[in-house]
Amino acid sequence: MVLPKLVTEVPGKKSRELARRLRACESRNVTFVTPDFPVFWERADGGNVWDVDGNCFLDLTSAFGVATAGFGAEHKKRAFAGQSAVLEHGMGDVHPAALKVELCERLAALTFGRWGAGAGKVALGNSGFEAVETALKTALMMTGKRRALAFEGAYHGLGFGSLTVNGWDFFKSPFRAQLADFADFVPFPRSAAELEKLEPLMARILSRGETGVILAEPILGRGGEVVPPDGFLRLLRRLADRHGALLALDEIYTGFFRTGRWFACEHEQVVPDLVCLGKALTGAFPLSACVGRAAVMDAWPESAGEALHTSTFLGHPVGCALALAALEFWADADRQGRVAELAAAWRAVLEPLRSLPAVADVRGRGLLWGVELKQPNAAGALMISGLQRGLILLSAGRDGRVLSLAPGVALTMEEIAFAGGELQRLVMNT
Ligand SMILES: Cc1ncc(COP(=O)(O)O)c(C=O)c1O
Repeated sequence: MVLPKLVTEVPGKKSRELARRLRACESRNVTFVTPDFPVFWERADGGNVWDVDGNCFLDLTSAFGVATAGFGAEHKKRAFAGQSAVLEHGMGDVHPAALKVELCERLAALTFGRWGAGAGKVALGNSGFEAVETALKTALMMTGKRRALAFEGAYHGLGFGSLTVNGWDFFKSPFRAQLADFADFVPFPRSAAELEKLEPLMARILSRGETGVILAEPILGRGGEVVPPDGFLRLLRRLADRHGALLALDEIYTGFFRTGRWFACEHEQVVPDLVCLGKALTGAFPLSACVGRAAVMDAWPESAGEALHTSTFLGHPVGCALALAALEFWADADRQGRVAELAAAWRAVLEPLRSLPAVADVRGRGLLWGVELKQPNAAGALMISGLQRGLILLSAGRDGRVLSLAPGVALTMEEIAFAGGELQRLVMNT
């Protein structure tokens, strides 16, 4: 554990030079570059990251919610090194790596098996958005209905299919001319009153009989860490059943103890028909999964030699090894208990921010928190000033108002206290 010191020159000289070179060689839309941003990472350990100038930071984001188990965790190092030494690539849908079998079995058992919902089947992918697109295709195969019902502010990734069900105009507008029209959107509920209004709204859309899938994040993640009122997932389950649609939950962000349970749907004991997984599934490697009830997944035809939905790196052996190691890591009851302790510690340091004049709301569950600020784009400014205080932060919400915190389990109580103090000072100075 290393507590960051106040950084006087950030980004430092080496980061600035790398930013200059990157601007010349990378598509200019990708990396956000200003004189104050970004820093270039060189190494990481636990919850600490060091940049190329030797500055140390506390990562309060688990690097997009991936490194929930912490950086450099032994189980990841072992899986990476061990697997890449014996087989670094397989032929995913033709001659798969043997580990793919074990991972599919374990994922089916962890979800539908553990939920007491019968057999599950798995389709692996690389990025999270691919798992979402697999869910969309599966729903069409199963129901024959072409429309999807999704939520305003939802983030499901940026491939053309996932973009269509993405609730952000920002990402969609430039590409509208090439997006299909198959998604309807309803507001994501923030309160019991909003949940009540949602039911008739959704029922009206669903009663047209064209919707094959209701797609939702159990907690709106990138959309601003919005925790819906209790009963939200049960409502979705009820409506899906009543109207002959599937329920697909996007647990790419919320899965693997991010919210204190294996999956966020377990807080309401709702079993979906399809669940999308990614990010902390491996904790370090681009591998995703769409897991579904076997009867639903069997809507896909048996492969006659040409898979309808696959990709070159599907079932990558290193990714499979990392995912299997992650499943073992999270199966430890002490570790699961640790998440609850850490969640309580975060609540204790974040709740007091609520009394600051700049803050509109503080909310979260487990290791997923949002500090909503009153001013639009204020969170983006804090991402930059946070660097000087040694914090890696992210902004969320469609108007950049929410400071998004998704810390990992490697952070110590001392680091959490440090982060809490620095966040107080940061937000006070906005
Ligand atoms: C809930 C959710 N779904 C899907 C995605 C897309 O995943 P990827 O960026 O790996 O395609 C994300 C990414 O942040 C996400 O948070």
